[in-house]
Amino acid sequence: MRYLIGIDLGTSATKTVLFDEEGKIIASASQEYPLYQPQNGWAEQKPEDWKDAALTTIAKVVKESGVEKEAIKGLGISGQMHGLVMLDQEGEVIRPSIIWCDQRTAKECEEITEKVGRERLIEITANPALTGFTASKILWVRNHEPENYAKCRHILLPKDYVRYVLTGEFATEVSDASGMQLLDVPNRCWSDEVLEKLEIDKNLLAKVYESVEVTGTILPEIAEKTGLSVHTAVVGGAGDNAAAAVGTGIVREGRAFTTIGTSGVVFAHSNKVTIDKKGRVHTFCCAVPGAWHVMGVTQGAGLSLKWFRDNFCQDYIKLAEQEGTDAYDYINADVAEVPVGSNRLLYLPYLMGERTPHLDPDCRGVFFGLSAIHTRKDMLRAVMEGVSYSLKDCNDILKEMGVEVEEMMACGGGGKSPIWRQMLADMYNCKVKTVTAKEGPALGVAILAGVGTGIYESVEAACDKVLKIDKECAPIAENTEQYTAYHRIYQKLYPALKEQYKALQEL
Ligand code: XUL
Repeated sequence: MRYLIGIDLGTSATKTVLFDEEGKIIASASQEYPLYQPQNGWAEQKPEDWKDAALTTIAKVVKESGVEKEAIKGLGISGQMHGLVMLDQEGEVIRPSIIWCDQRTAKECEEITEKVGRERLIEITANPALTGFTASKILWVRNHEPENYAKCRHILLPKDYVRYVLTGEFATEVSDASGMQLLDVPNRCWSDEVLEKLEIDKNLLAKVYESVEVTGTILPEIAEKTGLSVHTAVVGGAGDNAAAAVGTGIVREGRAFTTIGTSGVVFAHSNKVTIDKKGRVHTFCCAVPGAWHVMGVTQGAGLSLKWFRDNFCQDYIKLAEQEGTDAYDYINADVAEVPVGSNRLLYLPYLMGERTPHLDPDCRGVFFGLSAIHTRKDMLRAVMEGVSYSLKDCNDILKEMGVEVEEMMACGGGGKSPIWRQMLADMYNCKVKTVTAKEGPALGVAILAGVGTGIYESVEAACDKVLKIDKECAPIAENTEQYTAYHRIYQKLYPALKEQYKALQEL
């Protein structure tokens, strides 16, 4: 039997899973790390924490599995996208990484739009200038920390930094590179035009591979530390959403998934480049060579529920620690007791600004309709429903663009909740399914590693072999009707508040 490792470098933790070639989990380990928010709307993490988490969890799974190191043929990394890692001449980290949900770069986005031109930027990078994307973060460092910019010799994405630690190679791949706003997305290579107009030296960027290509092997000192072999191949891997797509079988036209992780994503596979001229959803290269995907992103999905849990459900956290259970189990049970509509309470999930459909770094969260009858249970349900309304907005835009979705899969931490899946089925008015394998992104990149090392013939063939449908949840007509009425009010709240968000930001 041959084995593969998938590493999922997320925002709250890094999870490493060792699979056999049938996709069975042999061992798994995860390690959490902090998110730093030095100012309202800023978000940073330490690349050294990712490095430490990756090395510790790899060593744990290799040891626990007892698998012969030479049988571990390949390793893939899935990563939170868009984060900026800057390294100096010696390969040392210069400053903390400014990550995907950071919203400090509104001015730099204006600068990008002015220098490249909005239409041309969308034509080349398939997206308008976005605060979340890497290019505006690079410009921010250049504008505000010129001394750090002057030291910078390498610009990497989070998972590509971990690749550098493991292999010593400066490499990236098309799916994650699409989120930097420097890639020519239709042609799958760096855009000389955008780089020249933004005056960013191409030598700072890593070599671009397809997601299944081998980018290097394990360095001897890392092999020593982790128990891996120096022959284990590290493939391109993928951005977390492209990786989750492979791990849930979204590798053909007509297939889509919704993930509720820290962010929430509605993602559809496409064999051709389809770009939203209004820039409300992203078009990126996907991990299947020669294909793309379209996706809408809501910034504060799982993040909203986690924020509520951490601040207002301390008792559940304690209870879960005592009982060896999960605080979210108690939350799900509470939410099940509240009717659709949360007793006329709505929540806007804009804790970290929003991308789809509003593209607004200044908007923030709202509970609307609070009354003295409401309890914590109503607020919990409202949070889940509010996130789902936002995901419905993403799904509606994909439909409007003519992206045909025949099958919706659910994944991510929130996708494990039957009650959250039912909300999605009711709001989308379509069946929502899960696969038996629950390790979406980690399995996805392990599959890519299997393709790169010749264990599987193609990404599609691997998914057919490894993935099985598990649960299926059908929409309930009565709920759909009620949600439609609430969603109409939900959609009117953002336009009503838009100007006040700006005013609040300027105070
Ligand atoms: C996608 C995005 C998030 C991050 C973090 O564009 O910003 O999904 O990758 O998960």
